[in-house]
Amino acid sequence: MTKRLCLLGIILMAVNAAGAADKLTAFEPTQEWPDNNGVHINAHGGGVLFHDGVYYWFGEHKIGGRRGNTAQVGVHCYSSTDLYNWKDAGVALTVSNDPNSEIVSGSIIERPKVVYNAKTEKFVMWFHLELRGQDYTAARTAVAVSDTVTGPYTYLRSFRPNAGKHPINVTERDLRPSRENYFQRDIERGQMARDMTVFVDDDGKAYHIAAAEENVTLHVSLLTDDYLDFTGTFSRVLVRRSREAPAVLKRNGKYYLLSSGCTGWAPNAAEYAVADNIFGPYETKGSPCVGYNPDTEMGAELTFGGQSTFLLPVEGKKDAFIGMFDAWRPNNPIDGRYIWLPVEFKDDGKMVIQYRQRWDLSVFD
Ligand code: GAL
Repeated sequence: MTKRLCLLGIILMAVNAAGAADKLTAFEPTQEWPDNNGVHINAHGGGVLFHDGVYYWFGEHKIGGRRGNTAQVGVHCYSSTDLYNWKDAGVALTVSNDPNSEIVSGSIIERPKVVYNAKTEKFVMWFHLELRGQDYTAARTAVAVSDTVTGPYTYLRSFRPNAGKHPINVTERDLRPSRENYFQRDIERGQMARDMTVFVDDDGKAYHIAAAEENVTLHVSLLTDDYLDFTGTFSRVLVRRSREAPAVLKRNGKYYLLSSGCTGWAPNAAEYAVADNIFGPYETKGSPCVGYNPDTEMGAELTFGGQSTFLLPVEGKKDAFIGMFDAWRPNNPIDGRYIWLPVEFKDDGKMVIQYRQRWDLSVFD
């Protein structure tokens, strides 16, 4: 009898550990975030696509140890209908075993963003790619495509964008050769593209926004109608301000561009800038952050220990966005944490991101 009870207990515990975990009803930034299997979500540097009533979270699948800073698995996808509880939908883009593939394991695949093209009915994934063994010097953007949202995505190609092109806001100074003029240096070869995001506007036009010119200046580039290529129309924004980790939202006809400084995995101060046109000019507004994160012991001046990755519109609520940040753990990347916080707006349009240890979507009501 005792033995049997004991066995029952063990089975119940196993079932619980295997996913019968309680449903989550709130966000708890910086804590472990279990998926439907009770496993910490593995989707770093991510972005979210809402499609047919479901949210899909795509991000970098990391493994343990320093090697986890390179791509050993690919891009992981999770799905959710309430934003708190995420179901493992598997690996959407898998690294290759072929040493000649650009996405061979050991390459670097970062900040994947997936968008849906209504005309072609295809899902398009853009990401920052670094070739194996070349550290961060390739600075390429890369694209993959799928007929189904969760994949598998077919890898298409990588490149340095806007080769041979001048930006729409070109100045004489941009074209003057000098040792520090990285834009001019790269015109022929194509512009560098590191930290990136993709933004689809209300009119269906999609824009690729990336850290270019040795991370000194961001480039906003219009994609083709099928979202699979660059049109060659682009602008240089936040010129020489050294911003990366870009994320964009649109509110009341204005574009809010959130970004970080350039200090690698170490946190720094977030900053946002506002423009009437996605190509700029952007007016810098300073950090939107307020408060303190007791878990990282970091305040607003260090973005609570996080770095921006995406601004997520909450469906069905007006002016409701979630700021998604990564709290990187470069020595054990798989344990990197997520800091999701509500984005609030003051009457004058000022953006505020206040740290909260626990919060739910009712803050938007
Ligand atoms: C950060 C960047 C990350 C990653 C890291 C590598 O600045 O935002 O995505 O590239 O550098 O050190």
